[in-house]
Amino acid sequence: MEELAKDLSNKLFPGFVLCLEGDLGAGKTTFTKYLGKHMGIKDTINSPTFTILKIYEHTLPLYHMDVYRLQGIGADYDLEEYIYDDGVCVIEWYHHIEESLPEAFLSMTITIDEDNKRRIMLEGSDQYEAIISSLNY
Ligand SMILES: Nc1ncnc2c1ncn2[C@@H]1O[C@H](COP(=O)(O)OP(=O)(O)OP(=O)(O)O)[C@@H](O)[C@H]1O
Ligand SMILES: [Mg+2]
Repeated sequence: MEELAKDLSNKLFPGFVLCLEGDLGAGKTTFTKYLGKHMGIKDTINSPTFTILKIYEHTLPLYHMDVYRLQGIGADYDLEEYIYDDGVCVIEWYHHIEESLPEAFLSMTITIDEDNKRRIMLEGSDQYEAIISSLNY
């Protein structure tokens, strides 16, 4: 997980949107911690479950969202300000705010195998497609 986060940290660009899916405890926040670490962010990255959004100001700012509690609420214009900003936006439980998402984003689905290993599936269109092909796993 950390290796992938490190590789991905070298491919980020302003406006990058990473959408994370996976059951409770799958490792969405863990992956975001590693990504932030390799982006050079020194602050401790904690789960934004209760705050929905945490902002880490940096060369490339990191906006970390957990929108689990927003299911069925509809478009969230406050969050959209960050989703369409020039930072890197990571969204846990992104299916809950589907109408607020841009057309293209990198989606990462984390599942846990019977032997407790993480399996990661990446999908994306446009520029994200090229990034996925450039990752050698
Ligand atoms: N290979 C691994 N990758 C990620 N997490 C792992 C791995 N092995 C064990 N873990 C543990 O699994 C847990 C993952 O929790 P984490 O908070 O990242 O999940 P989450 O997907 O963000 O859950 P939530 O939906 O509650 O936000 C952590 O306790 C972490 O230490
Ligand atoms: Mg989490």
